Parts: sequence; C-alpha cells; structure tokens
Amino acid sequence: MKKSITLLPGDGIGPEVVAEATRVLDEIGKQYGHEFTYQSAAIGGTAIDQFNDPLPSDTLALCKESDAILLGAVGGPKWDANPAHLRPEKGLLRIRKELQLFSNLRPVSIYNSLVSESTIKEEVVRDIDLLIVRELTGGLYFGEPSERLDIDGEEGAVDTLTYKRSEIERIIRMAFQLAEVRGGKVMSVDKANVLESSRLWRQIANEISEEFPNVSLEHMLVDNAAMQLIRNPRQFDVLVTENLFGDILSDEASMISGSLGLLPSASLSADGPGIYEPIHGSAPDIAGKGLANPLATIASTAMMLKYAFHMEDEARDILNAINKALDSGIRTADLVYGNQEAVSTSEMTDAVLQYIGSTK
Ligand code: NAD
Ligand code: IPM
Ligand code: MN
Repeated sequence: MKKSITLLPGDGIGPEVVAEATRVLDEIGKQYGHEFTYQSAAIGGTAIDQFNDPLPSDTLALCKESDAILLGAVGGPKWDANPAHLRPEKGLLRIRKELQLFSNLRPVSIYNSLVSESTIKEEVVRDIDLLIVRELTGGLYFGEPSERLDIDGEEGAVDTLTYKRSEIERIIRMAFQLAEVRGGKVMSVDKANVLESSRLWRQIANEISEEFPNVSLEHMLVDNAAMQLIRNPRQFDVLVTENLFGDILSDEASMISGSLGLLPSASLSADGPGIYEPIHGSAPDIAGKGLANPLATIASTAMMLKYAFHMEDEARDILNAINKALDSGIRTADLVYGNQEAVSTSEMTDAVLQYIGSTK
C-alpha cells in the first residue's frame, strides 16, 4: 500500500523522536511491501520563528491532504512569554480543532520486562491494559471567554468550561464503542459534585449507555480517579473524560507503564486524517542531547498503522519489537533508576529495528 504521511516534528525533542519513528516505519514498509512517503511541515515554536504563526496555512493544507499525521511535540521556554495566539501550544490546539480530532485515545499498558522495574508495586501494574479516551476539542481548553479581565477593580483572568450536548454525546459514544470490543466497561470521570458541565456529562453518559446493553457504565469523580489509578489501575477498562482531566490523568497513568516517554496516542475525527502523537511534550530539559525515549512516538506509529491504515499485523509487529528490545535489557535514561547505563535515543531505535519482522 502507498500512504502519504505528514510529519510535524515541532520543537525540543519532537524532531529527534519523529526521526526515529520514521526509521521504524521505513523498516515496516520494506518488510511488508508498503510505500510510506513523508512531507514535513512546521508547527509550534519552529513555525512561529519561521512564519510568525504556530499553525501556518500551508501546514494545515498539507495535513488535510495526507493519509495520516505524525507529530512530535511543541513548546519550549523560548516562547513562554509570547502572547496567547503566538504560543506554540496554540498551533497544536488549532490543528486539533481544524481537523475535528475530538477523540484522543491514550492506551496504557506495560511492557513485560518493565513490570519489575516500575516505581509502583509489581502486583499493581502487572498486565495492565486500560484506555483513556480524552475529549480533545472542547471543555476548558476551548471555552470562551478565556482572557485577562478586571474583577472588582483587581487584575484577574477567566477560562471557561463549555460543552454542547453533541460534543459530549460523540465522545461518550466513542468510549462505549471501544469498550464493546475491549473489556466491556466504561468509567466516566467527571467533577459532577461541583461542575454543571459535569452534571450534563453524567446525564448524557447515562443516556448513551442505554444504546450499549453489553457495556457497563460507572461514574467516578476526577480527584478519586487520580488516586484509584495508582491504587488499583486494574479496575479500569475504558476511562472517558473531559479534555483537561484527561490531559492530567494520562500523564499520571504513564507512570503505570514506567515513563512518560512510553505512552502513545491517536487523535481521531469522524473522518479525515488523524494525528498520531506521543502524550509527552518537547522536554526542553533533555532536548538535543540524544537522551529522549523514542518509544512513545514509535508506538504512536503502531497506532497509525492500526487506526489509519488498518495494518493490524504491522502494528502488532512494532509493539512486539519494542517488547523484545526492552527484554534485551536496554533502557533510555528515563527508564533507569540506579546505576544501570542508559542508551541513546537512536540506540533504542536500533534495538527495536532488530526485531521488526519477527511476528511475520
Ligand atoms: P514534558 O512532557 O515535555 O516533560 C516532562 C518530563 O518528562 C521532563 O522531565 C522530560 O524530560 C520528561 N520526558 C518527556 N518526554 C520524554 C521522553 N520521550 N523521553 C524521556 N523523558 C521525557 O512536559 P513539560 O516539561 O511540562 O513541558 C515542556 C514543554 O512541552 C511545554 O512547552 C509544554 O507546553 C510542551 N508540551 C507539549 C506537548 C505536545 O506537544 N503534545 C505535550 C506536553 C507538553
Ligand atoms: C498534550 C499536551 C497539550 C495538551 C498541550 C501542549 C496543549 O499537554 O498533548 O497532552 O494539553 O493537550
Ligand atoms: Mn499533556
């Protein structure tokens, strides 16, 4: 098959991890007879520097024409003092909105050999397989107003959490559809004891659950969910939640896997190309040093193969190769606790490449 992929390397470690992921895609292409073609475009801080716009129109046009998009990360201290519309993060938020990527799938599982190395007890993290379904184009990230304002003669600021019924319905429905082919359980996470938007969310979740007699629905308050994720993550199958709640809970959940540098994601719309992106950021503290863990981005390409191209065997091959590479004992610095020596970003990819093709 021939597939065109837009690369949005972005800032910090973004270009480093995207370059590694394309090496793995190329190997898959070679072994399975696919042709992946790439075109790179600017987003985030790099785009601000070049075009004074975190999402240039050429970038958006290219993305719309491609079969799938692979994003690294955006942001960094260089642009932190910029006004809101000239922040790197605005480019990412805008492209998610433009492509209507309302559904962000963040699977959390654990590679075999990391079970005994987790900062969480082995018996808690063993065999973990849960899926965070994060609403991605609404909620607190996009509500208006969002601005500085005068409150009672004092400097203040406002952000707004809004949802339309249709926005809640489609993400809840997505969660149920995914649960139907997984463990049959949806946990809807909200703050219904305080927020009106959460009470609407909960009401709609109850309504949608009627359409799915084979899937159970439970509700949990987000503060409790943050605790339960570490206490007993095995109780979750599909966890669906508002944009900001999902952002926070998924970084927390990454430590069930062992590192933020491991978790992939897929940002999907009803139709049209999705963005495949690690959940981590541009990691300015380690950028340019060859220290970044490329596995989250490599695993994101596995999600691309599965969801965008329906190449299930190839996707499985990548995850198996990651597992095997870790089994061989090599670790990037984020996975090392103690005296063990760490390998570089590209050495980790080299190890993965060795095992590509072993499930053919
Ligand atoms: P971060 O995710 O960039 O980093 C948090 C910590 O995790 C850092 O210590 C970092 O070194 C480490 N880390 C992250 N990814 C890693 C990897 N692949 N390998 C090894 N270690 C890794 O979050 P932050 O430091 O809070 O934010 C830095 C910048 O990234 C900010 O500008 C933020 O807005 C941006 N950001 C972007 C995205 C995205 O583009 N999707 C996501 C999160 C944060
Ligand atoms: C993520 C990031 C983004 C988010 C930022 C960079 C806008 O943290 O993809 O998780 O909050 O969605
Ligand atoms: Mn995040």
